[in-house]
Amino acid sequence: MTKVLAINGSPRKDGNTSTLIRTILGELEKAGIETETIQLGGKKVHGCMACMKCFENRDGKCVIDDDLVNTCIKKMVKADGIILGSPVYFLDVTSEMKALIDRAGFISYANGHPLQGKIGNAAVAVRRAGASRTADTMLHFFLANDMLIPGLPVIGIGRDIGDVERDEEGIGHAHHVGQMMARLLTHFDRYPLTAITTPSTDERMPKKKK
Ligand SMILES: Cc1cc2nc3c(=O)[nH]c(=O)nc-3n(C[C@H](O)[C@H](O)[C@H](O)COP(=O)(O)O)c2cc1C
Repeated sequence: MTKVLAINGSPRKDGNTSTLIRTILGELEKAGIETETIQLGGKKVHGCMACMKCFENRDGKCVIDDDLVNTCIKKMVKADGIILGSPVYFLDVTSEMKALIDRAGFISYANGHPLQGKIGNAAVAVRRAGASRTADTMLHFFLANDMLIPGLPVIGIGRDIGDVERDEEGIGHAHHVGQMMARLLTHFDRYPLTAITTPSTDERMPKKKK
């Protein structure tokens, strides 16, 4: 069954980012697509240690194995679509989301780019400033992984929990993004993953010095 995985980088489990993600996923579910959300924000998540073990081991996982990142990576590889969501924190994504991006990005590069051809988009909750840059941080993860992004990211305006529900334009665009993702995912014969040649593991990446 076609599946979309969402990862919420906000420590507020039922906050504004969550509302945006749930709105997108609601449209996907209406189209018969299975969805799952991983609550990453607020959990202990390590940053990348630059140990380069992922390029030695090439086993699809990060050597740091005591947080949620390996679970996220495994589920991202299995999913057909991925939503990354984050509130704006000092004009960018939360530290949990950035840690996921760095570590999942290197794991992907070390293991033959397994996210290639998947559909992705981003959801951002913002009080006032930094939404585009925050969205770009997540969209660049998709672009770096040769993923397809249907349209603009979702940006919802609000400060306190629930505020974003009153941002009609933001919620409206979240519905639209869900519908666009559903259309692409249910017409995948036009974008067959099998037609994309999976490149070999990225040999351009630095090797660990012996
Ligand atoms: C540490 C921190 C930093 C923040 N930085 C910004 C910021 O740079 N720009 C902004 O517009 N809002 C900023 N905010 C406000 C949040 O982005 C806003 O409240 C958002 O709706 C929270 O989404 P959530 O409910 O999903 O956590 C910040 C909030 C926190 C806690």
